[in-house]
Amino acid sequence: MTASYAALATLLASLAVIAIGLVVSGKRFPLETFATAIPRVYKIRMGYFVVLLGAVVIGLALTLPTTPYPYRFSDKNPEIVVKVSGQMWSWSMTQDSTEGNLMLPVGKLVEFDVTASDVNHNFGIYNAAGELVAQVQAMPDYTNRLFYTFDVPGHYYVLCLEYCGVAHHAMNTEFDVK
Ligand code: CUA
Repeated sequence: MTASYAALATLLASLAVIAIGLVVSGKRFPLETFATAIPRVYKIRMGYFVVLLGAVVIGLALTLPTTPYPYRFSDKNPEIVVKVSGQMWSWSMTQDSTEGNLMLPVGKLVEFDVTASDVNHNFGIYNAAGELVAQVQAMPDYTNRLFYTFDVPGHYYVLCLEYCGVAHHAMNTEFDVK
């Protein structure tokens, strides 16, 4: 949807540029016009520059303090914390106060604390339809926090998305969301 809006906007902007070009190319201006026009054009260009610079500075000021973006949820206090560790070639996923099979709730913010005990892996969560819903790098000596709210109950699969050796393809696990 967004892509087709972007394509339409690009098309309209291109047509506008072509239309302006056609109108201007059909006109003849005496040479003196340029002497007065150039300073005006430079002024307009400086105005655009100031507006763009302001937009960039405001945009950065608003968004940079919230990076890395997943941490913007950290003040929401996730209700569930799952410790995830990758090792060649399996995943361990443990939830506070839960023994046995992992079961996550629908509609609650879940924090996955993801690390690895040997080499780099990638923790990728897939839904039952085989669509990737969330992923984060699993690195030794570092814990990545992945925040996700499951809106759809069902069976989910975890696949490793970083090549980590001969059995990388078998580094899977699964869990349920109810
Ligand atoms: Cu672990 Cu690929």
